[in-house]
Amino acid sequence: MIRIDSVTKRYPDGTVAVDRLSLDIPDRAITVLVGPSGCGKTTTLRMINRMVEPTEGTILLDGADLQQQPVTTLRRSMGYVIQNAGLFQHRTILDNIATVPRMLGWGRQKSRDRAAELMERVGLDASLGKRYPYQLSGGQQQRVGVARALAADPPVLLMDEPFSAVDPVVRKGLQDELLRIQGELGKTIVFVTHDIDEAIKLGTMVAVMRTGGRLAQFAPPAELLSDPVDDFVEDFLGADRGIRRLSFFPSAGLELTTGPVVRLDATAEQLAAPDAPYLLVTDADGRPLGWAEPRDLTAGDIVPRRLLSYGRPFVPGTDSLRAALDCAVLSPTGWAVAVDADGRVAGVVSQQAIGEAIRTAHGTGGTGDAGTGEAQTGDEQTGDAQTGDAQVAGSADVTKVAP
Ligand SMILES: Nc1ncnc2c1ncn2[C@@H]1O[C@H](COP(=O)(O)OP(=O)(O)OP(=O)(O)O)[C@@H](O)[C@H]1O
Ligand SMILES: [Mg+2]
Repeated sequence: MIRIDSVTKRYPDGTVAVDRLSLDIPDRAITVLVGPSGCGKTTTLRMINRMVEPTEGTILLDGADLQQQPVTTLRRSMGYVIQNAGLFQHRTILDNIATVPRMLGWGRQKSRDRAAELMERVGLDASLGKRYPYQLSGGQQQRVGVARALAADPPVLLMDEPFSAVDPVVRKGLQDELLRIQGELGKTIVFVTHDIDEAIKLGTMVAVMRTGGRLAQFAPPAELLSDPVDDFVEDFLGADRGIRRLSFFPSAGLELTTGPVVRLDATAEQLAAPDAPYLLVTDADGRPLGWAEPRDLTAGDIVPRRLLSYGRPFVPGTDSLRAALDCAVLSPTGWAVAVDADGRVAGVVSQQAIGEAIRTAHGTGGTGDAGTGEAQTGDEQTGDAQTGDAQVAGSADVTKVAP
């Protein structure tokens, strides 16, 4: 949809902010520009809506040269969100969000209705509409910034470090919200950050830029993690690449066993039946209570609080292999507990079995035994999970599931 073709930006003082950059930004997906300070991210973003004009090269929008399009029309088709939201301090939240519709000549009531609808969409309570920006938290202000950019329903959203000024917890919430909104509305989003974890979490495609405004690598996040092109990209990605890459493999294909699972009211025969070093005890509804060695369990007298913790269970189909591995590593028995969406035990899986699934997944790029692909399309996914749009990237043969 947006094609950046060999674009260079040289500022009047001679600074080369962007150097022969070429990028094909896919439609209806999130493309992240990431790189160290001063590498030309903001300049690139601003060239897309012509706040900055390229010195050389062309940018095409749906095949048409941006230079041929009136700036006003162009800006209306592109929402822009910046750090600290950049809200108008003297206008209420509702009026901030209604800015562009009002500019477009929508009536006052229609604009306000639209603003109210958007507040709900970005997770803001309607009661905040009458406040002024200084009466909101930083995270709430960022949500207003996103709502304002969405107000005229532009197909493209340009976002320049929109979440970098808020604390990690609020930031995670905003990221999840953006993924959800993108899944629902299918916007084409170009997102600038210098945080590689944010890039990996949000990006369908990630462009790593280096100082001097040059592109180091343009790839889906899983590919960046598995195959960084050079030392710069590898250093920039940081530690634990292998573990982090597991977030892209679904856990749905793990083979679960219910052999060692017993209920709190199990009989002596039932307790004796499994040939396992540990048994997982559940309540009458099948919810996990904890682990114990068989010899420590007496039929009719199992005391839940004496059981070993079962740790945090994972949900196959929603969670990734990384989540499953984490469960196994944190489990006192080395076995991970899988539960269904209602929290009932679906089975257990050993660290060793997860290890084998990981080897298979790495060998097949995530489409083998460990990944049935089910986790790739589920509309039911929320939170960290990315929707099927991730496949827009074409070369991405794996996609995100909840880390
Ligand atoms: N108007 C300008 N005149 C001259 N040089 C500029 C101008 N704007 C930006 N630059 C320079 O161009 C380079 C790229 O700037 P840009 O703002 O695009 O970087 P960035 O990647 O967004 O950095 P940051 O992460 O710090 O926001 C920097 O060296 C910057 O100093
Ligand atoms: Mg910048």
